Amino acid sequence: MSEPLRVLVVHGPNLNLLGTREPEIYGSTTLEEIHAELSSAAKPWGAELEFFQSNHEGALIDRIQEALSWADGILINPGGLTHTSVSLRDALVATRLPVVEVHLSNVFAREEFRQRSLVSPVALGVISGFGPVGYRLGLEALLQRLAE
Ligand code: DQA
Repeated sequence: MSEPLRVLVVHGPNLNLLGTREPEIYGSTTLEEIHAELSSAAKPWGAELEFFQSNHEGALIDRIQEALSWADGILINPGGLTHTSVSLRDALVATRLPVVEVHLSNVFAREEFRQRSLVSPVALGVISGFGPVGYRLGLEALLQRLAE
């Protein structure tokens, strides 16, 4: 039997507050519920997921660097760091792993500062604006690519 595909699922700052944070923009689904949904989506693929959320840029970068030694791909919602963090982008590039970027909201339909992502140019693709469903779509797109 072949090795299971392994994916690091990363959430950036403030995403621990999902469910109560600006529900009119981000909905009422909690991070825990998103994780449960992702775990069930991973099952038919026999894929293994590891979840990580932090409000700290350095902690996110440490975890991403670590993924180099075990993960096959990264699914990430970098939160506000999407628009600002050269270091987070550099860490993703350093892993040489395929990355899928997810946003709950449609960042292109929001403030101008959200319309630029430092991560998108180094990602396989971006899913933005579909709420929690976007995570599942992103995971499936990533697994599909990894399985090819
Ligand atoms: C977000 C969009 C970002 O602009 C924002 O800072 C977030 C969440 C999203 O999922 O829509 O924290 O990444």
